[in-house]
Amino acid sequence: MKLCIIGTGYVGLVSGVCFSDLGNDVICVDKDEDKINLLKKGKVPIYEPGLSELVVKNFRNKRLSFSSNLKTSVKNSDIIFICVGTPTKKGGRSADLTQIYNVAKELSLSINKFKIIITKSTVPVTTGDEIEKILSKKNNKHKFAVVSNPEFLREGEAIRDFIYPDRIVVGSNEKKSNRILKNLYSPLISKGAQYLNTSRRAAELIKYASNAFLATKITFINEIANLCENTGINVEDISIGMGLDKRIGSRFLRAGPAYGGSCFPKDTKAIISTADKFKTNLSVIKSVVRSNENRSNLLLKRVYEILNNRLKNKKITFLGVTFKANTDDMRDSSSLIMIPALAKKGALIKYFDPTGYKNEFKKIKNVSFENSIKKSLKDSDLIIIHTEWNDFKSINFKHFVKGKKPIIYDMRNIYSHTKISAQGFKYFSVGR
Ligand code: UGA
Repeated sequence: MKLCIIGTGYVGLVSGVCFSDLGNDVICVDKDEDKINLLKKGKVPIYEPGLSELVVKNFRNKRLSFSSNLKTSVKNSDIIFICVGTPTKKGGRSADLTQIYNVAKELSLSINKFKIIITKSTVPVTTGDEIEKILSKKNNKHKFAVVSNPEFLREGEAIRDFIYPDRIVVGSNEKKSNRILKNLYSPLISKGAQYLNTSRRAAELIKYASNAFLATKITFINEIANLCENTGINVEDISIGMGLDKRIGSRFLRAGPAYGGSCFPKDTKAIISTADKFKTNLSVIKSVVRSNENRSNLLLKRVYEILNNRLKNKKITFLGVTFKANTDDMRDSSSLIMIPALAKKGALIKYFDPTGYKNEFKKIKNVSFENSIKKSLKDSDLIIIHTEWNDFKSINFKHFVKGKKPIIYDMRNIYSHTKISAQGFKYFSVGR
């Protein structure tokens, strides 16, 4: 099948590359010509394990191509995936759909035969209806079908999530497109993925409701972790004990810093905004957003307590600054709140991240990047393990710190309290 992917961000690129690997002819389109030129040279602008290899492989065998010409690419394709960004509107909570509607307008001028137009971007309920209206202005309704097919890919695990999804959701009541899409996804369905066909609006909402629910689950365990800290209980026992109940499940019950990334913070706000539009109060999600926004300050308070409120000239090391492991993404990472706040109080921050230097801290005084774990730990008073990279899971602290005994604050509960304390370090973690 001939597919056109519009937008070569994380969702578009991963989907395009994986579809081509399944044997489809895929053309990935982006306005950004520099990006397209890089991709043509096999260079991938985002960090996603396994992605570069798949780009090179499928580009070489000519199933995958790149272009900045939307019109021609659309004309030559049967199925069009819209994968552009839907960020939070500046100063508001709702999703900014400018890019989506701009693409829809361009598409409306390029429909030469029947096309299935699919939104893979996370879009609020009724966006599909709006796209349909835009396309109808210039085209006969029989020439296209607008379908919602949300993605459920996690950064850092995106290739695996694409190939082995729990479910594939296709929102459309149109028979022909449902048949074509079921066929497109048949290699994944035959490996066990559930295929769910719903109305277009339901598919749009499934995506937001799923992200909001996962964000709620994390926030819930983070608050339980606070209670555990005050009652001498290990939150991991609670996660395991709750998770064994199949109705609850053990995943996404890891306590830690505030959730971040390009999706949960944005999507929880956007669903609240959509609900407001439809005069519905999503009080649970509203309180999740509030609780998560408070979380970084709560953990910061803990840091102040650990250092007896003496921050001036204290050497603090951050191991990992991205919002989670296996990604270079800094969007809504809690380090963006914690590091500037600590630096403002006079602490001297060094950070190491496996994905390298971060521009986000460039202008902040007393914050510097070190290119190895060893260098970042040198002379440290407090080590904060902020992300759960494998690189941080078996550090021989004794060997690195040479006589000095820094305090360790493990925000991802990677280490065991007994083992680290036995080495003579003061050790703090989350909810235990
Ligand atoms: C999330 C969803 O998991 C995907 O299903 C969805 O497709 C994607 O958003 C999206 O909408 O595009 P992602 O943002 O890549 O994926 O990352 P997650 O692995 O879900 O983690 C999000 C945040 O929750 C991170 O800050 C992570 O550290 C935190 N988290 C996750 C926890 O604190 N505890 C957990 O148990 C799990």
